[in-house]
Amino acid sequence: MSSTVVAITLMINSVPLSLAFQTRPLDFIRPHDVGHANRRQHKNAFTDSNKCSYNWLGPSSPSPTRLFLDDLPTAPPLGPNNPKKKNLKTFQRYLEIECWKRAEFRELEPVLKSVAESCKQINRIVQRAQTDDLYGVALGADGRPLDTTNVQGEVQQQLDVLCNTYMLRAFCGSGSSIHSVASEEEDEPRCCSDVMTDSAFAVGDYIAVFDPIDGSKNIDASLPVGSIFGIYKCQPGTAVDESTFLQDGRSLVAAGYCLFSATTVLVLTLGSGVDGFTLDPDSGRFLHTLKDIRIPRKGPIFSFNEANYRDFGAPEQRFLNMLKEGGTSTKMKMTARYIGALVADVHNILINGGIYGYPATRSNPNGKLRLLYECAPMAMIMEQAGGAASTGTGRVLDVKPTEIHQRTPVFLGSVENVFELDQFFQYYDDDDDKGVGSKDGRSSE
Ligand code: F6P
Repeated sequence: MSSTVVAITLMINSVPLSLAFQTRPLDFIRPHDVGHANRRQHKNAFTDSNKCSYNWLGPSSPSPTRLFLDDLPTAPPLGPNNPKKKNLKTFQRYLEIECWKRAEFRELEPVLKSVAESCKQINRIVQRAQTDDLYGVALGADGRPLDTTNVQGEVQQQLDVLCNTYMLRAFCGSGSSIHSVASEEEDEPRCCSDVMTDSAFAVGDYIAVFDPIDGSKNIDASLPVGSIFGIYKCQPGTAVDESTFLQDGRSLVAAGYCLFSATTVLVLTLGSGVDGFTLDPDSGRFLHTLKDIRIPRKGPIFSFNEANYRDFGAPEQRFLNMLKEGGTSTKMKMTARYIGALVADVHNILINGGIYGYPATRSNPNGKLRLLYECAPMAMIMEQAGGAASTGTGRVLDVKPTEIHQRTPVFLGSVENVFELDQFFQYYDDDDDKGVGSKDGRSSE
């Protein structure tokens, strides 16, 4: 299609100014210049003749579909009046029904509601960590740095202290069912009367364990973090002390976690299945989005920190090699995912199937993760969802801790994947064969 050129010369203050105009070719018409009926024809004209040299789908692509702004669907009105809002049960209502069906949980109803509230508070902290002054060493009431180092040997950060405080209040301050608590952030268990500075608060029949903010290093990079908790019953007629906490995971009566990620999710088991609740940003309530979660029998994800591969034992090394070589008995094409926050990695496995592992390494012969408030609650959730939880040589829930902050190697996930890993332990577990750089410096491979 040809075009016409019009040239004009203007005299401005005796200075000639020449302008040339080119009429727009008929086929160079923007979509909004034409009626709807001609739209397709002009879309093609637009891309064929307007000298756009790039072709999104490559020169040989067959008539590509191009969307224009006015073709795009309009976003639904977000907020409480969104017609697409699902009609989901609230966490509160779910608890009322469960505790009505199972009388033994009625005592725990207030505390579980408080835990959900503390998850919302921790969520607010996590979301504000980069915009508010929440980083840095924790300060005391006098504004001076708290001279505290936690059991991990790290100086306590404001964030850790805040999240710990929320969890302490949730467990100790609501109702009277929890007698004492053990936190990842505290060296020793504490009586609720001590936490609340009121003797009326240490009368319950239960104890709680928790990790208020797990994987907190992820916050700097806006990655997911989580909180984990478990509730045990005290032995009737016995005084509550540190030994009350040294129960195996089979004695857990409830376990859960909160995941602070793309969405904030609370996952809970009361010993008969697992349910998940997503925090609705409009109502500020947890809604029942994941009903009776069942982990797939086998899954494609393996989630290990493979930077530690050299320090793993032979069973884990050979298991990982086999996954990557495609020889897995699950016949799945495996894919690797590792976020570096236990809650996020385990939640991914719970939903999609596969295996999460934090094995023993040469520097951590018992692994890195803590039995009481990390591995045991996660193991209960996995088993209740139809999955498995192994130390490599036994069931995680069978391990009776001998100390509060005890560590254990852990493998969690779909039964077929975890069973396969266990078989590698049966065949290759050999203390003399501890991977590359072992005693004699030779590779185990
Ligand atoms: O328990 C601490 C923790 O941050 C877990 O949340 C996480 O799974 C693990 O450590 C990550 O450890 P690493 O950085 O050694 O892979």
